[in-house]
Amino acid sequence: MDVEYKLEDLEGVGPVTTKKLADAGINSIMDLIVRGPVEITEITGMDRDTAEKIVNKSRIQLAEAGVIAQSFESASDIYKRRQDIGKISTGTNCFDTLFDGGIETQALTEVYGEFGCGKTQFCHTMCVMVQKSREEGGLEGKVLYIDTENTFRPERIVTIAKIHGMDPETVLDNIIVARAYNSAHQTLILEESSSIIKKDNIKLIVADSAVGLFRAEYLGRGTLAARQQKLNHFVHLLSRIAETYNCAAIATNQVMAAPDVFFGDPTRPIGGNVVAHTSTYRVYFKKSGKKRIARMVDSPHHPETEVIFALSDAGVSDLDEAGTKKAKKPKAAAKKTKTPEPKDVPQVEGPTDEPAPPAGVSDEKSA
Ligand SMILES: Nc1ncnc2c1ncn2[C@@H]1O[C@H](COP(=O)(O)OP(=O)(O)O)[C@@H](O)[C@H]1O
Ligand SMILES: [Mg+2]
Repeated sequence: MDVEYKLEDLEGVGPVTTKKLADAGINSIMDLIVRGPVEITEITGMDRDTAEKIVNKSRIQLAEAGVIAQSFESASDIYKRRQDIGKISTGTNCFDTLFDGGIETQALTEVYGEFGCGKTQFCHTMCVMVQKSREEGGLEGKVLYIDTENTFRPERIVTIAKIHGMDPETVLDNIIVARAYNSAHQTLILEESSSIIKKDNIKLIVADSAVGLFRAEYLGRGTLAARQQKLNHFVHLLSRIAETYNCAAIATNQVMAAPDVFFGDPTRPIGGNVVAHTSTYRVYFKKSGKKRIARMVDSPHHPETEVIFALSDAGVSDLDEAGTKKAKKPKAAAKKTKTPEPKDVPQVEGPTDEPAPPAGVSDEKSA
């Protein structure tokens, strides 16, 4: 993806339109596709028909260039495109087992769990691992870290890098940290990120936390719809960027340790269904004394596996020899039952196709 796809290259797009788009922060054909016609209409003031035409043209051009998927494609083409998917090894046996090799590009991985369960440590670890050479399981890429809770710690990066025998200064230089002060700012950072993603060879985008600011700003039932709509926009944008630019994205999401009226089910992600329905992979982190448990909750092609990990100077790490080989499959899968009913799953909502209830509001008491 080294060719620059300039707006001027689009047939029928003259200098006036180009300027209008550039003023709104749309600088390339990629941007047009990532933002989509509805948003283009909103931010440029051009009419919807024109916006749709431009976006469609962009899509066709990039599809012909093989950069993005065609609207109709054969399964073998999809299969080929998926061969481009990169995997970032986590540097641990346990997580590489869970993710079947590592976290994927072109996908959004959601990590949720209660406070202190290791979400931020996991993000820090991946910031280092993505920079490793391809032989060592990395993607030789840089990181965009959207820090909404002021929990990014360069010191942790230094320690993790040293443990992996990497030069800490170089590793730090390759992480671009954007501190988001409110939810609108958080979204803006992402909206403006496309130019640096390309220029700086960003291969991992972290949103830690993706949900916190939205939760803090939209309190009370009356604001739930608005919150979900904005959060929805952020998360979809993140996932479209990951797909378009072939990079990995991690979004963290905190769940309450104790049940309370507002969020009902204690292990239901605060972001509610918006995040769940968008992320390609959802991993639930749970404390278990000093140990931590990670479970693949929702994935198009991974089994519901559970692994034990530890938090250490290396960020997330294997527990020890005994711990790692206990990368166990859910009970039911071991038996010859056809459809495993993972009853041991903590009250986490499984994959569901039902229409999303207002997020955050508890409905069923499952399990
Ligand atoms: N260098 C370290 N060695 C061992 N544990 C650590 C280290 N740094 C942080 N931790 C542990 O990580 C936990 C916090 O994890 P964190 O990723 O910040 O949680 P959260 O899920 O809230 O983001 C704490 O329990 C802390 O003790
Ligand atoms: Mg955190």
